[in-house]
Amino acid sequence: MTPQFRTVAVIGLGTMGAGIVEVFAKAGLQVYAVDGSDELAQRGRGFVTTSLGRAVSKGKLEQTAADEVLGRITFTSELTDLADADLVIEAVPEKLEIKQSIFSRLDEIVSADAVLASNTSSLSLTRIAAGTKHPRRVVGMHFFNPAPVLALVEVITTLLVSQEVVDGVRDLAIRLGKKPVVVGDRAGFVANALLITYLARAIRLYENGRVSREDLDNAGRIGIGLPMGPLTLSDLIGLDVVKEVCDVLYAATKRPSDAPPALLTNLVTAGRLGRKTGHGFYEYDKPGSGTVADRQQDSAGAAVGVVAVVGSGELADAFAQVLGGGGLDVRIVSDPGTDTSGLVEAGLVVLAGSENCCEDCNDGECLTDATGGNVGDDSAEQGCGCCGGAAPGVWFPKVVEALSADAIVLAADPASRWAAEDLDVDSDSASGGSEVAGEAPRVMPVRLHQSTRGGQVAELGRGLTTSATALAVARATLEAAGLTVVVAQDRPGLVVDALLFPHLNDAVAMLDSGYATAEDIDTAMSAGCGYPTGPFAMLDAIGADAVADSLLEQAGVDPAVAPNPLLLEHALAQRTFR
Ligand code: 3HC
Repeated sequence: MTPQFRTVAVIGLGTMGAGIVEVFAKAGLQVYAVDGSDELAQRGRGFVTTSLGRAVSKGKLEQTAADEVLGRITFTSELTDLADADLVIEAVPEKLEIKQSIFSRLDEIVSADAVLASNTSSLSLTRIAAGTKHPRRVVGMHFFNPAPVLALVEVITTLLVSQEVVDGVRDLAIRLGKKPVVVGDRAGFVANALLITYLARAIRLYENGRVSREDLDNAGRIGIGLPMGPLTLSDLIGLDVVKEVCDVLYAATKRPSDAPPALLTNLVTAGRLGRKTGHGFYEYDKPGSGTVADRQQDSAGAAVGVVAVVGSGELADAFAQVLGGGGLDVRIVSDPGTDTSGLVEAGLVVLAGSENCCEDCNDGECLTDATGGNVGDDSAEQGCGCCGGAAPGVWFPKVVEALSADAIVLAADPASRWAAEDLDVDSDSASGGSEVAGEAPRVMPVRLHQSTRGGQVAELGRGLTTSATALAVARATLEAAGLTVVVAQDRPGLVVDALLFPHLNDAVAMLDSGYATAEDIDTAMSAGCGYPTGPFAMLDAIGADAVADSLLEQAGVDPAVAPNPLLLEHALAQRTFR
């Protein structure tokens, strides 16, 4: 018979436990809230009272309703008080011995048909269940932080649990207003297996100096559109918890990408556990607070007065619109073969190539002479001519002639990059003999991302020899147009795609392994981690081919991110996942 739940108990009143107590009490259930001592039980009462008080002060809850919620909760330090509980959820620290000992004691206290649930984020539920008297009543009920806000409950099954218990817990989650996803017992379940691997990869990007702390978080929050950047989120979850899940994932998969990064391990060893201790990747104004006390501002350069956008087509239009819409004085040079006057005053030039060229033409490369130098418009007939002279390889010599001596050049597409690279290597030959002065190198890749709910990111690639001054000026100019600038080491995928695409690839690998459906994975990540859409909806919007192409490039630097075969199949067949 499917169990009915009227009285529940939550053991362990830390952040998660107190949040779960609040969820149950708000849904009208009687709740025992238990911790190891009266002091800890009172601390738990404080967490719940503060959270309810916040809702009241925001006008989300009447004071009388908040009092009623609190009135349904009995705070105690005695497990023996739980004799009449229909469901007990433990949310104690992630130590198997502690959980097993609690469940053994509960076996002697609660009735034989009460359900025992664990909120474990990383331990094997099968091992927890196997240590109890009645493993058929032991199930996973995994909430997400903050539990009162996030809708996901992962209902974890084992080979030993009864179907009635699973159905009852799933129905209860729906009654709480949550979105349950029922899955088997694998390391990290759905959400943590994807999220924590993503966080570990992000921490490694920061640890390796590929991007600054603030820029990395902006890449996640604004570039991808997730609710928080990966370092801020790690600090919220707790670095000890992130490390524990990494350890469990790595033990199960042996993939280096799942292993805890050294920096994470060192922070945990040093007792810097994130918000709860007031110090993690960021320093906070006090323990428990989310207010960052040590946010760093990148050294500001001065924005240039005039910006030129060179090229025609969607990319050039997008830059012109964003920079002009942001209030910059933008000169559009759509046909540099005939008119380069817009370049004369420009302090910053965005090269955005044409997308017309065929493969043979290779963005005007067919129009180069035998030594690899650009031969310009006159010899357009020598090549296949598909681009009609609109490719950067064709017009770049004209641009160099007109470019002011200290203009900074941002290359927005691979063809422009290819065309512009001589400018930094050998300014004399690139300018056809006329000296290009100023502080070289001054060419850098730029990537404009789609707007998200957080804003819009432009990424700048920083090479070995990139001038710090040029970088600061480019940053200041793009920021003056309202963009959030992320500066990343010049590697395939820069940072936004290096964060997002391997994460999407991991979701495809999980689907390919048969563990969860695309729908369940999407629900888990949007309801459990606040994603605007799930990974498969994101993949379908971007296109499997674009993601696979970028991953193939990124795999040149990190073979671990090579595209999953199922992703490649979707890319080749031009199939969507949802
Ligand atoms: N308790 C109760 N309510 C809270 C809260 C808390 N701890 N924190 C935030 N809220 C409420 C706020 O009161 C606000 O409510 P309102 O809209 O009714 O006014 C709402 O949430 C939004 O909060 P804020 O405006 O302060 O800030 P944000 O819009 O940035 O939202 C956030 C905060 C909900 C934390 C959001 O940033 C988010 O969803 N972040 C992602 C968190 C995430 O990924 N969690 C999963 C971690 S993994 C995990 O828990 C599993 C474990 O096993 C490791």
